[in-house]
Amino acid sequence: MENSREFPEKTRGLAVTPPMGWNSWNTFGTHISDALIREMADVMAEKGYRDAGYEYLVIDDCWSLRKRGADGRLVPDPEKFPQGMKAVADYVHSRGLKFGMYSCAGVMTCGGYPSSYGHEFVDAQTFAAWGVDYLKYDFCNFPAGADCKTAYITMSMALKATGRPILFSACNWGQQEPWLWMRSVGAHMYRSTGDIQDNFVSFRDIFRSQLKHFAMNGNYCFNDMDMLTVGMYGSGNVALGEKCTDTEYRTQFALWAYFGVPLMLGADLRNMSPFCRELTQNRALIRINQDAECRPPYQVYQGRPQYGSTDWWTIPEDSALAFVRHLSGGEFAIGLFNLSDADGQITFPFANAGLPYACGYGLEMKDVFTGEDLGVQRDYLTPEVKARDCRLYLARISRL
Ligand code: GLA
Repeated sequence: MENSREFPEKTRGLAVTPPMGWNSWNTFGTHISDALIREMADVMAEKGYRDAGYEYLVIDDCWSLRKRGADGRLVPDPEKFPQGMKAVADYVHSRGLKFGMYSCAGVMTCGGYPSSYGHEFVDAQTFAAWGVDYLKYDFCNFPAGADCKTAYITMSMALKATGRPILFSACNWGQQEPWLWMRSVGAHMYRSTGDIQDNFVSFRDIFRSQLKHFAMNGNYCFNDMDMLTVGMYGSGNVALGEKCTDTEYRTQFALWAYFGVPLMLGADLRNMSPFCRELTQNRALIRINQDAECRPPYQVYQGRPQYGSTDWWTIPEDSALAFVRHLSGGEFAIGLFNLSDADGQITFPFANAGLPYACGYGLEMKDVFTGEDLGVQRDYLTPEVKARDCRLYLARISRL
């Protein structure tokens, strides 16, 4: 067959596992510049982030002039980006990273800058010419009567038309159940909720709202629960409500990592606390997040229905959640999350996780955070989990 030109060799494609990177919005909002992006690229390359897997450096809204150029193209603000965007992209690439930019499906971005409705193909060409590898595509100022799905499929086609592999990060905030259709229109990730704020209640509610949708999260198209706020400690652009504690940040990062969604950091990486730097570079957590099979976790019922008793848990079940996630290579990750405001025990009955009492097998377990080996466990676990805290274990089936 002489068709190799039309049908090039199979490639692995983009977003095989959840995309990882950094985005300017959470901390910097409109205060972005060439110098800032270069510094962030340096930090990602030199302080371990790139080597931990954070690959995309993304400039969010507010990067352009308020008007298109005479040629109809978007123009970078010369005060913020005096050397233009190609120079920024080249620098980001020179640090071994990929470069992301932002536009919007409406007639103006959320910040009031020109956006891509009706200009999809020329804008995609512009981004491709600058060397962009990732496009976040927002949903503000969308014309009344226009169709959301058509807008996203059009930009998806426009990106394909450039011939450059560009990761398509669709950001329509969960409108029209994107988990049902974004995969089919070529998006590699889709924002499933409104904007995150840097507080516990915000990220807890984002997570809870997606519990029923993780079944559709998988290789090549991921449920984007928004950029992480880990490490912001109440400073920056989305710093609203009560500041997070380290425990709360650990729970946020663990939820995002464990549920296999994109890990886009949003804090100022130049001034990350040692705790948050170590947390966001935790190899075990990143390995769970990036597991090749990208399977969603299943929830484990904490009661013992066969005994007709409901007194096995001390925290309401929608706050004290237990999960198993199948990983490749015969491993499991077990996640226990206490999203309530009270310390308590979370019960993990092995029978409800698929290992009945008499099956002859238990789980050899290791605590992901402390590294402690728990040996082979059976029947049930009931660890104490503090308010807003979590426990994660790696496990393998073991004969008793
Ligand atoms: C929306 C998006 C945010 C961010 C801002 C920029 O609110 O959801 O993630 O991109 O726009 O204005």
